[in-house]
Amino acid sequence: MNKYYDIKVLYGIAILAISIINICNGEQCANINIDHRIDCTPEIDNVTLAECTKRKCCFNTKLSSSLINGNPKYIPTCFMPTDYMGYKVTQVDQQENEHGTVSVFKIKLERQTPSGFPAEIPVVTVEITLLNDRSLRLRFTDIKNKRYEPTLPELNLPKPTDSLNAFYKVNVDKTGLLEITRLANGAPIFQTDLTKLIYTNQFIQLKSKLSSPLIYGIGEQKAPFLKDTEWHIYSVFNHEQHPINDRPLYGSHPFHLNIEDKNTGLSNGVYLRNSNAMDILLQPEPAITWRPIGGIIDIFVFVGQSPDDVVRQYVSLVGKPAIPPFWSLGYHQCRCCSQPDTLAKQMLITNRTIAAGIPFDVQWNAKEYMVSFNDFTLDELRFGGFGQWIEHLHDIGMHYVPIIDPGIDPKQPKGTYPPYDDGVNDDLFVKTNTNTTFVGHVWNKSGYTVFPDFTNPKATDYWTKQFRQFHKIAPIDGAWNDMNEISNSRHITACPKNSSLEYPPYLPKRMNNTMYDQTICMTSKHHIGVHYDVHNLYSLYMAIVTDNALKSVRQKRSFIISRSTSPGMGQYAGHWNGDVYTTYDEMAWTIPSIMNMNMFGIPLVGADICGFTGSASNNSFYQEMCARWIQLGAFYPFARNHNEKHMDQDPVAMGSLVTRAYKQALETRYTLIPYLYTLFYKANTNADTIARPVFMEYPRDPRAYDPSVAETQFMWGSALMMAPVTKPNVTKLDVYLPSGIWYPYSVSGYGKPVDSSGKTMQFETPLDKVNVFLKGGNVVPILPSRQTTTAMRKEKFTLVVVLDHNAGAEGQLYWDDGDSIDPIKSGRYSLFNFDVSKGILSTHSVVDKYREQEIVVNNVIVLGLKTKPNELTINDKKWSNFSYEESLLKLTIDKIELKLNGVNNQIVWK
Ligand code: GLC
Repeated sequence: MNKYYDIKVLYGIAILAISIINICNGEQCANINIDHRIDCTPEIDNVTLAECTKRKCCFNTKLSSSLINGNPKYIPTCFMPTDYMGYKVTQVDQQENEHGTVSVFKIKLERQTPSGFPAEIPVVTVEITLLNDRSLRLRFTDIKNKRYEPTLPELNLPKPTDSLNAFYKVNVDKTGLLEITRLANGAPIFQTDLTKLIYTNQFIQLKSKLSSPLIYGIGEQKAPFLKDTEWHIYSVFNHEQHPINDRPLYGSHPFHLNIEDKNTGLSNGVYLRNSNAMDILLQPEPAITWRPIGGIIDIFVFVGQSPDDVVRQYVSLVGKPAIPPFWSLGYHQCRCCSQPDTLAKQMLITNRTIAAGIPFDVQWNAKEYMVSFNDFTLDELRFGGFGQWIEHLHDIGMHYVPIIDPGIDPKQPKGTYPPYDDGVNDDLFVKTNTNTTFVGHVWNKSGYTVFPDFTNPKATDYWTKQFRQFHKIAPIDGAWNDMNEISNSRHITACPKNSSLEYPPYLPKRMNNTMYDQTICMTSKHHIGVHYDVHNLYSLYMAIVTDNALKSVRQKRSFIISRSTSPGMGQYAGHWNGDVYTTYDEMAWTIPSIMNMNMFGIPLVGADICGFTGSASNNSFYQEMCARWIQLGAFYPFARNHNEKHMDQDPVAMGSLVTRAYKQALETRYTLIPYLYTLFYKANTNADTIARPVFMEYPRDPRAYDPSVAETQFMWGSALMMAPVTKPNVTKLDVYLPSGIWYPYSVSGYGKPVDSSGKTMQFETPLDKVNVFLKGGNVVPILPSRQTTTAMRKEKFTLVVVLDHNAGAEGQLYWDDGDSIDPIKSGRYSLFNFDVSKGILSTHSVVDKYREQEIVVNNVIVLGLKTKPNELTINDKKWSNFSYEESLLKLTIDKIELKLNGVNNQIVWK
């Protein structure tokens, strides 16, 4: 049993043992519903009556159980009485805007009762700004001293509207009640009692009511999509950690979505803009408590008409995601670690994948290509000819991405290793509290590692120089930012023992004993602040610097996949969710995990297909698992197979069943890449999610929120539903299809239409079939699958029209050269709208600025057409090359060679 579980068990026993004690200070304690308690001693695990009394709080250990399924439940035994007066509201000012309505509230809070935490902030100002008709900002600051605030992500504040028709109402009164309610129905959106706030230098605690227990978001966690409101704590702190429950994982995303009513889809969301480590506690009231251990409270509240409205507001605020290079939407393949350890082995695997006819765009390598695992080096002995090989990949339309760790080896002889020497010259490495260079250890074989300070303005030139040099010997196409939490496994420079940054008064509950576990010391210094404050931002700065370096060296769109993330990351990089285990459970969890990252504005996301840790073995159990995993993984927006050392896990190595499954699933994906690319355009311009929960599309369908649906199925935009198998031996699968017409889809064709009235239906799930459905009401542009996306881009399009019950449909195609920097800003792109109604398919050329390639539609397929048309015209000319299949209600119009650029077209069937 590991130490962590030991502690949990002891905690449970201790709570039960003292459960007979029940001391209350009269009504102020007795009247508090257990579900509403606010912890008065959150830093103390087994609080005593004496400690509790000192804080003037209620003590009651009468609990049913503080352990549920072996998981500690953080039910406070020492909690604030109803009349607890931590802060007193001494002033409430309201400022009106020019329209005569309140646009800012200013509230002054003065401390009355000591919280028990050191360095209390005696006077706090709360400023509530009504940003626009659906969002507000609440800033809690120290009236006297400036406290740390993150400078990233830059905020794109919404344009102020006359916030007068706001969806919400704010009420603040002198008793300390701060309430934001939905104007239309009075539903609580944010509600806190300011008198119970704790605000100290290294611990802040703020609680707010939730609208319902339907809460999603809060990352990065190995947890179900629906978060647990049974006194569950989620710690948020970028942390290298195999995805296991109740540990903070690689990224920090203190944003959540809260559904107010699953019959109306009305929703709200909250983002806490704070880069310090924090706990987020959910309790059954339902309520949420934020406990950042530094910084300020800077909260954005989004009031939405639907879940996607809320997420769009959040993603627009922190930065809409980039459009990735077109090729990066193809299939990626990699293998770690010191395997393959020669280029010859690498070439063998690459070649056998291509020879099997599996669509394949991007070859990767983990650190094995390096000398002594040192960035920007190439082991000529094992990887001689690497540069030519990458050129060859380019010649056959493929791309290449290597791992780049932040850690640099400081032990190479002086003058031989520029990544270190240049960093020393620029004084660029992260420092200790005594201003020496901080030394830790990651992979470097010397046993020593130092870390560039990417927050230093000089870092861009430094990193660009290293990329430029390396690019001359290895013309790489992107960067894989690994180990960038910062991960660090050894403190060669020890962390100071007597620092409250290393040992804060409150240690987030899910951390592994210390703040600096698996990372650098909290007292380390960066250009923009101490590590304690900026830890969660390190990977974001690294991504920005890498993005600049790649663009400047390649003069093309950059491609970065980052393990560690924080708000705003999607503008620069995508994410893979780390060292997932090769198990069915883990495979199933990747569905919530990719939906979460989409809600955090990082849509380019996937998991290592077939698992990373404890790789598959070549037996029938794992062959089935890998076949199932590619049927899911082919629909991760970022699709990569990668695994650790034990064995080859590429499709051919896994045998013919797996090879066939890869080919079928990836060919299906490839046909859909034009649609996926268009979704990235929508994400980039409209902050839309790509891989999204079913309820994003069906917010007023209560069934869509059922965990059996929300956790297991997902959509790509509005047109595609994925229902992957994530268990062994499944021959039939229950799939929930919301009301409408659905068509099973794969590269081999279209299944029979399913007219659902909002039902769960059973489908056969042979091992060679993806479970993907096209939804009525959409026009989906597809291309024939080819070996690479480069080859595919030369082909002609098919428009798949899937009619809804009213025989209507609509869709879009975004197109550009696939690789140039910022196509939207430069305006070099084309955009086509499609709509269908009353038997007329119209194509509209909305933007026609990418002229290097003509967009030609060769076929149109209309699904859901009830009768065979007698007559068909294309732009008023009679067209007879069409056929109709009654069993599929499918009309196929062939070889039309219809040009889309700069013109509008009409196809009419009667
Ligand atoms: C290697 C792997 C990477 C993994 C890391 C930590 O760098 O390639 O995927 O996250 O090790 O285990």
